Amino acid sequence: MRMVDVLEKKRDGLELTKEEIEFVIEGYTNGEVPDYQMSAFLMAVYFQDMTTEERVNLTKAMVESGDQVDLSEIDGVKVDKHSTGGVGDTTTLILAPLVAAVGVPVPKMSGRGLGHTGGTVDKLESIAGFQVEIEPETFIELTNKNKVAVVGQSGNLTPADKKIYSLRDVTATVNAIPLIASSIMSKKIASGADAIVLDVKTGSGAFMKTLEDSKELAHAMVQIGNGAGRETIGVISDMNQPLGFAVGNALEVKEAIDTLRGEGPVDLHELCLELGSRMVYLGKKADSIEQAKEMLEEAINSGKAIETFKTMITAQGGDASIVDAPEKLPKSSYTFEVEAKEDGFVSEIIANEIGIAASLLGAGRLTKESEIDLAVGLVLNKKIGDEVKKGESLVTIHSNREDVKDVIDKIYGSYSVSKEKIEKKPLIYDVIY
Ligand code: URA
Ligand code: CA
Repeated sequence: MRMVDVLEKKRDGLELTKEEIEFVIEGYTNGEVPDYQMSAFLMAVYFQDMTTEERVNLTKAMVESGDQVDLSEIDGVKVDKHSTGGVGDTTTLILAPLVAAVGVPVPKMSGRGLGHTGGTVDKLESIAGFQVEIEPETFIELTNKNKVAVVGQSGNLTPADKKIYSLRDVTATVNAIPLIASSIMSKKIASGADAIVLDVKTGSGAFMKTLEDSKELAHAMVQIGNGAGRETIGVISDMNQPLGFAVGNALEVKEAIDTLRGEGPVDLHELCLELGSRMVYLGKKADSIEQAKEMLEEAINSGKAIETFKTMITAQGGDASIVDAPEKLPKSSYTFEVEAKEDGFVSEIIANEIGIAASLLGAGRLTKESEIDLAVGLVLNKKIGDEVKKGESLVTIHSNREDVKDVIDKIYGSYSVSKEKIEKKPLIYDVIY
């Protein structure tokens, strides 16, 4: 097979065979296909798109480019969850123990990653002693025993994706649905879950800003998952403002504790029920989404959910007493209130700007090497639709530096207050099966 012939075929909009796609991905991963030919391939895909079958074959070839996690020794249907990324998204911290509390195994692999705040692993490390670097055998043992364990990513998963993603970044081919969908799904499939719930964010703080694009991406990922033999559901949720109130690592752990007790922010609670019920349904522990929601509400109300979180913390060497005494979590030296300048109703909170404000405080990593300050971040006291009076606090800043003028400016820049009453935005836009 010659790469030039495959390129010609895709350029002309013809469908590639499984063998041709495998040739491209294997060749590029092992260096036989050079960057210039792969660049041409990516641009051809950008303009000519791919059929569902091509997308499934592309994803499978990327999965096969590296290690795959074997979870077969864990009893039951293993359900994973993935979010396309947002600001203050605390759902994984809540969903892992919550879904485990009703009997669905959640062997969770999580990353640190770059972003406005740390990843789930960083957040958990704000609990003293919590170990995420555990051996694969321990990970499996703990999941069988407690139904939940969290491990940091290790191994060489989807090297093809890493290499292709770097090339997309410099060839203006990041924004192509078949490439985005295969990139995300290859990582999920290589992580070994039997079924997947996708939280596809939409809005100003999301990777996909319009509902139309978000739906298209969700459809593409659901088709790939199902086509690769992993039952997949996509929930399209709002990211026009940060989720919940807290944006920051230890602050989000506290918010997760509140939500597991049934005392969390309404939007975060609702989204966790929407995503969690679909995890329970795919995990075959409920016959309907409604029944699954009731089971999760019951786990929260009975205290089972928060108990499972404590069990998970203790099992991984962490100090579970923080659950009843969250003041033991890392705490910043200073707090500042950002006060409303006028009366009215909050009409906009640009999520991305809030994320940047949190990262200016040190809540997130700017480069892979940066250190995170687990104590710092923001707590939103007002969300879209809320009434505010001049002088009331919009946001509380938790900081380890005394001068936060840059952060305050960012926050004022992200909030808009209008004189008229504002409709609250929907939290869930669509569910894709
Ligand atoms: N996230 C990914 O993992 N891959 C993409 O292509 C885009 C977002
Ligand atoms: Ca939050």
